[in-house]
Amino acid sequence: MANGEGAGIKGRIQRWREDFPIRWLDDHYIARREFAKALTIGSALLVGVNAVIAAVGRWVRRPGQMEAEVPVGKASEIPTGGSVLFRYPTDEDPCILVRTQSGDLRAYSQVCTHLSCAIVHQSEKDSFLCPCHRGHFSVNDGRPTGGPPVRRLPRIWIEQRGDELWAVGKDS
Ligand code: FES
Repeated sequence: MANGEGAGIKGRIQRWREDFPIRWLDDHYIARREFAKALTIGSALLVGVNAVIAAVGRWVRRPGQMEAEVPVGKASEIPTGGSVLFRYPTDEDPCILVRTQSGDLRAYSQVCTHLSCAIVHQSEKDSFLCPCHRGHFSVNDGRPTGGPPVRRLPRIWIEQRGDELWAVGKDS
């Protein structure tokens, strides 16, 4: 290699160092620092986004609960052992209201908690039957009393206003 050529390479390296003044080890240090900074900012953003989603979820649900009052029928028209089908809180949610043998009014989702078949009222036994796999539920609290279901039927809360019955809430 000629002397002139070696001096040219050194000159180019020198100019390159002036343009990129960070040494190789420092470059790694900066990369780690940048990575840690990105992690911290990313975590903070995730926390923020979760908080916003939770707040929006509450805000959206509250008006829905306020509006979810649906007329179900007249109390005087439901005899002991009788039942009424209705939908609550939306038209996609079948429910059943029964007057138990002791005269209480109880309402539940009509969707079996096993595999979502429709339950039917067995007034003589004061219970619900799911015909798909012979699941049984209590009319008094919706607890499973036989067959494969292990979760209780979600309760629908009924309010009586004069003779009118209204569905006003649903347990999850
Ligand atoms: S779907 Fe009701 S018992 Fe299986």
